[in-house]
Order: sequence, then C-alpha cells, then structure tokens
Amino acid sequence: MTNRAFNFNAGPAAMPLEVLEQAQAEMLDFKGTGMSVMEMSHRSKEFESVIQTAEADLRQLLGIPANYKVMFLQGGATLQFAMLPMNLRPASASADYIVTGVWGQTAIKEAKKLGTARAAASTEAEGFKSIPEKLDLDPSAAYLHFTSNETIHGVEYFNEPTPSADVPLVCDASSDFISHPIDVSKYGLIYAGAQKNAGPSGVTIVIVREDLLERTPANLPVMLDYKTLAASGSLHNTPPSFSVYIVGLVFKWALKVGGLAAIEKTNRIKADLVYKAIDNSGGFYNGPVQPAARSVMNVPFRLPSEELEEAFVKESQKAGLIGLKGHRSVGGIRASLYNAVSVEAVQALTNFMAEFQRQNG
Ligand SMILES: Cc1ncc(COP(=O)(O)O)c(C=O)c1O
Repeated sequence: MTNRAFNFNAGPAAMPLEVLEQAQAEMLDFKGTGMSVMEMSHRSKEFESVIQTAEADLRQLLGIPANYKVMFLQGGATLQFAMLPMNLRPASASADYIVTGVWGQTAIKEAKKLGTARAAASTEAEGFKSIPEKLDLDPSAAYLHFTSNETIHGVEYFNEPTPSADVPLVCDASSDFISHPIDVSKYGLIYAGAQKNAGPSGVTIVIVREDLLERTPANLPVMLDYKTLAASGSLHNTPPSFSVYIVGLVFKWALKVGGLAAIEKTNRIKADLVYKAIDNSGGFYNGPVQPAARSVMNVPFRLPSEELEEAFVKESQKAGLIGLKGHRSVGGIRASLYNAVSVEAVQALTNFMAEFQRQNG
C-alpha cells in the first residue's frame, strides 16, 4: 500500500482513504462514460445525478428538513462572510455576531463593510478561550451569526446559542461540519467550506431556510444572489464539478460508517486522547482553552518555549506526523482531528507527545 502520512492539517485536510481510492478507480472512466467527472458537461445526466445524489445524501446525513435549500457554491466560506449580509440583511437593518475567535472577527468585519453589524458578545479580551455566557441581543437583528468551531483558537460550541424570537440563527460551520449531529431546524442558514470534513477545497455548502430567500434584494450580481443560485440547483453557471463529486463520495462514506452519531463518537475518542495527553503532562503541554469549550476538531496547545515548539514540529514531521504547526497568528501546536483522521493516527500523536516529553521535559 502507498505510504500515507498521519495528516493533522487544518484544511485542506485528511480525506477518507476509501474516498480517494474510489475517485482513483473512477478517474479514467466514471460509470462507463469513458471520462472523468472533471471532463464531463455539468449539464449531462451523469453529472446531474452526481450533484443530486450528493444533496440527497447530505440531507439524510444531517436530517435537513424539506423547507431548506442546499447549495454548492464557490468562493470559500470567506465569500459567505459578504454574501450573507448582502442577502439576508435589509439595507436598514443590523445583524448580530458572536465573536469567539479569528473567524467570527473576520465575518463581522466583512459585514461592517457593507452595512451595520454589532457584536452580541466577544471573548477577544480574554484571548478567545471560551464560549460567552451572556449575549447582548438585538431583538430586531436581521440574524444572529456564530462560528460553531473556531479553527485557529480551538473553541467549539456544543449547544447552539439561542437568538431572540424570530431572529434567524446563522452558523459558520466550516470546521465542524458533519462532525456531529445537529438540529438543522434551529438554524436559518448554515455555511461551510468543504475542505475540512467534507472534501476538497473549491466548494462551499450553504443550507438555507427557504423563506429567507425572499430577503434577497433584486439588484445583486447573480453570483452573489442566493435566490437565483438556489433556484438553479447550484447550476446557474459551471459549478466546481469535481469538488462536488468528491464531497458526494465523502457524504456516502459518512453514511456508510454509521452517520453523524457514529462519527461523533469516534471524534470524541480522538479528542479525549489528545486532551488527556495534555492534562497528564504535568504542565509540559498546555491547552489554553477552557475545558467546556475545548474543540473536538482542532486542539491547540503550547510547550514551555518556542524553541521546544519548533523542535516538536520538526521531529513530529520526521516521525510521519504532518501539519502540527499552529496557525501563524497564534503560534504553538495545533492538531486537527477531522472525521478522516483515524484513531490510529491520534494514538501515534499521543505516543509521540509522551516520547518528546520524556526526552525534553
Ligand atoms: C471557521 C472558518 N471560517 C471560515 C474560513 C475561511 O474559509 P475559506 O478559506 O474557505 O474562505 C475558515 C478557514 O479555515 C474557517 O476555519
């Protein structure tokens, strides 16, 4: 078998081996068409089936109610930071944001360029280590936005915040999408770049309650217009067809391994292994996030010095553990434990952590 790295990259990230193998097997001849999905017309019946099956499988996986539309868009989650207020916030209205890390901060900054947005809470002053207990909600806000998992700071929501009555809840779920079950009916809109749990970069999934599409103003450029894009079944123009195909294979894989409840169970086992390694290290490894908000997906931690952190990254790479360097804005170490990262990979990491401490502690 090909030598596969233990991949802890934050995104693009590890893919399920079975998905890669299936894509490889179908690369030259997808279902008797004599071509790869990337070579076929996005208007062909074969591709139509690819995108419709991907949507149907995602609907089953997340239990998406019938009154929600699913879109496969481009521009990453970053484009959603702008599309969201353009579509869902009327010109005279304000939108609320809960800021628990860099991504929430980036989202509100983008929303402010285009109109009024306010922070209903921010944990910035304490260094983004927790979920805020109190929210200062605007009852007339166009929506309440939160980031379910802050990929850089490793802060995750395990229960959605509660908005004021009739204020739709909007979630940037980029880094914990399909990592555990959620109740979609609590949300007005969910968006996620695919390149962590759902597949390759190039496609962004948007799930939106149908009635909210009526807010889209008439004068938006078409590629920024949820209403038109949803009505076209994500086929207004050429979609990122190969990325959609791979994302569809990932949804099938997720169903096959038992769905989101089974995936969550494995993810919790993996996260527990790493947090235990941190907590049992006598302070050699130090996780900054408050226990109740510790992310199951991204585990940031520090060592006693930057020199030791540098050595940890270098030696872990030599041991076949890839992608453990923390985000450049915060430093330290970060282990991303997305769905496709195996328990075996995480055990290799915790064994490495113990050995590194033995030699350097
Ligand atoms: C939570 C979150 N939101 C947004 C983004 C930006 O995503 P993209 O690069 O797809 O625009 C990221 C990227 O890592 C992220 O982790």
